[in-house]
Amino acid sequence: MKADMIRWIVIFGVCASSGAAWADDIVARVSSPGKVLSVTLQRAGDGRLAYAVQRHGKELIAPSRLGFVLANAPPLDAGFVLGSQSVSEHDDTWEQPWGERRYVRNHYRELRVDAVQAGRHLGIVFRVFDDGVGFRYEFPDQGKVQISSELTEFVVAPPATAWWQQAGEVWALEYPVQKSRLAEVGMANTPMTIRTDDGTHIAFHEAALVDYASMWLRKVDGQKLRAQLAPSSLGPAVERTGAFTTPWRTMQIAGSAAGLYMSDLVLNLNDANRLGDVSWVKPSKYVGIWWEMHLGRSTWASGAKHGATTANTRRYIDFAAQNGFRGVLVEGWNLGWDGDWAGGGSKFDFTRAYPDFDLPGLSAYAQSKGVRLIGHHETGGDIANYESQMDAAYRLYASLGVDSLKSGYVTDGGAARFARAGASYQMGYTDSQEGTRHFLKAVQEAARHKLAVNAHEPVKDTGLRRTYPNAISREGARGVEYNAWGNPVNSVDHEASLVFTRMLSGPMDYTPGILSLAGADGKTFNSTQAKQLANYVLIYSPVVMAADLPENYAKYPKAFKFIRDVPTDWADTRVLHGAVGEYATIARKDRRSENWYVGSVTDGNARTLVMPLDFLDKGRSYTAEIYRDGDQADYRNLHRFDIVIETRTVRSGESLALKLAPGGGQAIRFTPAAL
Ligand code: NOJ
Ligand code: CA
Repeated sequence: MKADMIRWIVIFGVCASSGAAWADDIVARVSSPGKVLSVTLQRAGDGRLAYAVQRHGKELIAPSRLGFVLANAPPLDAGFVLGSQSVSEHDDTWEQPWGERRYVRNHYRELRVDAVQAGRHLGIVFRVFDDGVGFRYEFPDQGKVQISSELTEFVVAPPATAWWQQAGEVWALEYPVQKSRLAEVGMANTPMTIRTDDGTHIAFHEAALVDYASMWLRKVDGQKLRAQLAPSSLGPAVERTGAFTTPWRTMQIAGSAAGLYMSDLVLNLNDANRLGDVSWVKPSKYVGIWWEMHLGRSTWASGAKHGATTANTRRYIDFAAQNGFRGVLVEGWNLGWDGDWAGGGSKFDFTRAYPDFDLPGLSAYAQSKGVRLIGHHETGGDIANYESQMDAAYRLYASLGVDSLKSGYVTDGGAARFARAGASYQMGYTDSQEGTRHFLKAVQEAARHKLAVNAHEPVKDTGLRRTYPNAISREGARGVEYNAWGNPVNSVDHEASLVFTRMLSGPMDYTPGILSLAGADGKTFNSTQAKQLANYVLIYSPVVMAADLPENYAKYPKAFKFIRDVPTDWADTRVLHGAVGEYATIARKDRRSENWYVGSVTDGNARTLVMPLDFLDKGRSYTAEIYRDGDQADYRNLHRFDIVIETRTVRSGESLALKLAPGGGQAIRFTPAAL
């Protein structure tokens, strides 16, 4: 052993759990700007490469292998020597057009190495932040590259618990989050969140997933996870020609669940806005002809119960105008819904409306009232059919002043139909390389027509909203619709799990605000009414639905006031309390006023969370409009409707005790007194 190497082992303790194979040569290293995290790159005797991550000098990720198996060339797995290497530092702050906070600091140190194997080069770049690590591979131009699998590993050193969701299965991203020991994970989607037994939290994910297969995480053995690329039905998981970079493999790392949510690492690893002025992308709330179909009161299909009629749409437009909602979504407006469309959307026509729906007239009527229709394109997973009409469909909306649309990809098993030269179609996963290509194509084409896109059953979010801010929201997890259908309804800890798992990837069109707390056939929600309000602050999306029926909002005008008041675009965000799957409190400052909003939720357990009001301006008093669980409130019985709405005067430096009922929540609006 060389002397400097011994020193490194002393500093980083890499010997402890890494095994001898990797302990023999640290060839590069870099630490984060504040020295919280460090990454070492190691080379084994046979030239295999591995990285390891230390937090405060303690091993967190044990040596974990890097490399690829290629279908058309020998593997890039061993026999590497290191060419050049360099370390640099980057620190700047950029502004978001919309988001959880206006200004984002991007501060990291970067290690760049050139790994050479028998004349072939592979760049590996690590960006190390105080709150996490991202790394990616850079392939120089070498003609066609066919990647059958990635060898990238994540070996978690300390014993840990995981909150994860199975990948590659029939409901795609819509499985409940499950909790298990990390060693019991099977194949997981990302973000996957873990907590080591000594309290460190890591969220594994990826950033800037462009023209590449989604990464699933496959448990290999013990606490070793390996990147598993979503398969392609065309051949190898990834095929690229010319120089390219892989998506960033990311680990957000923090001492608490709250710290994970506060990290902007995924956005920081995406490229800057490529669309320029995006003032046409409008964060706003919307209502729509939607929940009534999920309840079974009306249908997407034509006929006597058709929901998307001109008269019904006018009713929703009037309701939106009266209550200050900008958008009106109408599903079931276009030809193709009759018969079995789920997983077979070949009949969808995206430019022709059913005869009882007057698209141009309604769009004009909406605009005369300061409201916009929101377009809807359910594809049934027939991406080939959708792409063949995409230009005409987007053109039509743009010509009518529709400036956003919701899309949908209801499929069986996330298996969609893709166009293929010389064949009628090709089936494939929506999170395959061809799937990721499609979702980005939709966003890029929509941008040409100044349309914002909110995709349901989408590929997961990897922060591309930074580069394409018209990618305004998406679903990509179990939304409130499961509370209409059941099988099963969402669990009582669902939101407290989502915040620290799925929500780490970006906005979610959750469709909250069902104040009637009942799904189809009277199915009940695992929620109090106050929690429905808290979800508006907690589950971030720049476009948010007031999802219940207008007649239900008429029954609860006082609670409805919070839904009318709450904004959807924020200057700042602070996570005040958090334990994955147990509870969460988030405070957010409105972008367009001095008001603050708080949402807090708990799982099935009642609890009282003390909230210091340090986020409020010092020396100023605020009116707090509090929407809290009543003393009887309990999600398990009719007391779920027990809500207390009260007003208090508060100041920074004081604290509020948030008393949350079982399955409950609290929402607060803070308005400063005039100076
Ligand atoms: C599933 C979506 O999540 C839901 O919002 C939509 O109403 C249906 N598909 C029909 O498109
Ligand atoms: Ca869905």
